[in-house]
Amino acid sequence: MSEKNTIILAAGKGTRMKSKLYKVLHRICGKSMVDHVLTQVSQLQMDKVVTVVGYGAESVENELGDRTEYVVQDQQLGTGDAVLRAEPILKNSKGTTLVISGDTPLFTASTLKNLFAYHDEKKATATILTSVAPNPTGYGRIVRNDLGIVEKIVEEKDANVEEKAISEINTGVYVFDNQKMFEALHEINNDNAQGEYYLTDAIEILKQADGIIAAYKMDDFSESMGVNNRVAQAAATKVMQNRINRQHMENGVTIINPDDTYIDCDVEIGTDTIIEPGVQLQAGTKIGNECVIGAHSKIIASVIHDGVTVTSSTIEHSEMMENSNIGPNSHLRPESVIGEHVHIGNFCEVKKATIGAHTKIGHLTYVGNAKLGEGINIGCGVIFANYDGKNKHETVVGDDVFIGSNVNLIAPVQISDHSFIAAGSTITDDVSRYEMAIARNRQTNKPGYFNKLPFDSAD
Ligand code: UD1
Ligand code: CA
Repeated sequence: MSEKNTIILAAGKGTRMKSKLYKVLHRICGKSMVDHVLTQVSQLQMDKVVTVVGYGAESVENELGDRTEYVVQDQQLGTGDAVLRAEPILKNSKGTTLVISGDTPLFTASTLKNLFAYHDEKKATATILTSVAPNPTGYGRIVRNDLGIVEKIVEEKDANVEEKAISEINTGVYVFDNQKMFEALHEINNDNAQGEYYLTDAIEILKQADGIIAAYKMDDFSESMGVNNRVAQAAATKVMQNRINRQHMENGVTIINPDDTYIDCDVEIGTDTIIEPGVQLQAGTKIGNECVIGAHSKIIASVIHDGVTVTSSTIEHSEMMENSNIGPNSHLRPESVIGEHVHIGNFCEVKKATIGAHTKIGHLTYVGNAKLGEGINIGCGVIFANYDGKNKHETVVGDDVFIGSNVNLIAPVQISDHSFIAAGSTITDDVSRYEMAIARNRQTNKPGYFNKLPFDSAD
């Protein structure tokens, strides 16, 4: 078998994104565009994968790690020049080389595989992946002769009126005979509207040297979308989102309104889970079976076990065990672990805390830097005061404790198993097993006092 290589072009500035962030690092469903490309390419068992980086090189290398080799293109002189930067690594390869851009995030491994197969079948020197665009503006056009044979690719800015009317576009993906590609690239010049060395010019050069130029036309234009600006980024996100949602539905997840559900790549969801509209599930999230993720919940890099119900809540870097529930309108901040059958109700915030099984935290409560045991009942409006202005301190609450409404627990403080804190208490000292703590002023009632107040007397 002949060698197979890939060159990913990722050195362009991406001026049209109008961003501080390097273009190919912009995200589509939680994954950078160039990572999408590399992920698909990696499924094809390549001998060598070389990514051409330039502007922002270091950030791309941090993103992709050692899954690819890198070459640097110091000056962005065009796509043809970019491919040439890979020559030192690939020049001895006798095989075929796939060239793909880091800003076309929607191509699937299966399309790329078909492209290689077509190239082999046609015994071609170069095979261009093309598609028919509803609006071809901005893309290179495929110019064919009267017999339908590909002659060349013309860039939008260099195209005449007739060429501009062509709707078959260059997707920017090609398979080349590796050695012939580099030979042709040494012959291209930058005599064109953009003053760039165009990779696309290699096609005409190979054609004139009697090479066989094939074009593999794909059916689905949406897969070939290139992202040069934020409008295209949103359009590509939509396509990717549909793809991800469809996959989950095929796996047995109910998605009430797939057009309004935002699930990142690499999120896992078990069967018979229901996802309501407006939900966002971000990268690193795993959801078990038979959960209900209620409308407008946002879950970031968290693990949700089987049978959990999340109602309109936000969960970040946390874990919810089987059959627990939360919401509406509550927030788990990082490093919270919620035990089995725990109930967290409305307007609660939990941060860096573990909560034991069957504990109930119904309403308007803040739990921070705490370890809570099992079977605890926490009333309404309880505050774990964890911060003294300088340091965070821990609160520990044992099993089967009852904490009345409107209690403040001033950390560090330890509340032992089977104890009781009276409503309205501000607790600064530890409480022992079987004790009741009450820490508030006694009530004083003053008869007739109302009539001394400067108000009109009651009717
Ligand atoms: C390119 C194609 C066009 C095709 C379109 C498909 C050329 C000349 N044109 O146009 O025919 O229809 O893609 O999406 O190839 N890059 C570098 N170094 C450079 C310039 C670009 O690495 O000096 C990289 C960019 O980071 C990008 C890719 O090459 O990932 C394509 O460059 P871009 O400027 O986006 O080309 P298009 O104008 O989209
Ligand atoms: Ca592009």
